[in-house]
Amino acid sequence: MVLTAEQIKAKYDVLLGGIEKYVGGDRKDKFIEFYTKLDDRIALLPASHKKAYHNCFPGGYVDHVVRVITAAFKLHTLWQEMGSKDTYTEEELFVSALNHDLGKIGSLEEVSVFPSTDEWRKRNLGEMYTFNTKIEYMTVPDRSLFLIQQMGVQLTTNEWIAIKTHDGLYDDANKQYLKGFMPETKPRTSLPFVIHQADLMASRIEFEREWLDTFSSQPKTKEKTTKKDRVNTQLGKIGSKDDNLMNLVKNL
Ligand SMILES: [Fe+2]
Repeated sequence: MVLTAEQIKAKYDVLLGGIEKYVGGDRKDKFIEFYTKLDDRIALLPASHKKAYHNCFPGGYVDHVVRVITAAFKLHTLWQEMGSKDTYTEEELFVSALNHDLGKIGSLEEVSVFPSTDEWRKRNLGEMYTFNTKIEYMTVPDRSLFLIQQMGVQLTTNEWIAIKTHDGLYDDANKQYLKGFMPETKPRTSLPFVIHQADLMASRIEFEREWLDTFSSQPKTKEKTTKKDRVNTQLGKIGSKDDNLMNLVKNL
């Protein structure tokens, strides 16, 4: 997937326009200041460092966030139509979707990833970006929340929990929030579930868009992989008798 500069800018404008429309008070000014100051960096980031994940291309991060915001509003309508109670605001919905993956941009000072110069890893592992090891490790949700407090923005409880748990039960750290068996320990709003569903939907669609055509274009028959081929693969000498996975990687 390749996005033009104009396409990336149009998507970035959606983020800025959404802040103007949905966020109130001094939070609006702080978000606009942050997203304007770091616009060049954020606009060019991928959503993932590796092609096997999703949106691993320049502009992939913004494309993903816009898709999550869009899905979040559509799912919000669906939840309401299905009878969900009105327990969070549109501002909370937007702020949570906008910032759920913010930690992927890196720190205030340092970008999270660089375009890789390792041709072997790009060709054979699909690792198109290399992590910037100057940044101390944090999970993406934790860094999202950390960056927001660095902006001086106060989140509501609903927003904090939705951003923190946006990976749902794919992240064991969220069990305490999402797997409570006592009514009082369950989330008080459906916002965490709406944001998680939106992120799941967006990521899955981005995966399908990138990969499903590739799978269907693979040859039906596969040649047998010999021990010698496997050794060559390990040495970085990709032979002609690779299995389907290696054909797929070579076509990246
Ligand atoms: Fe996401």
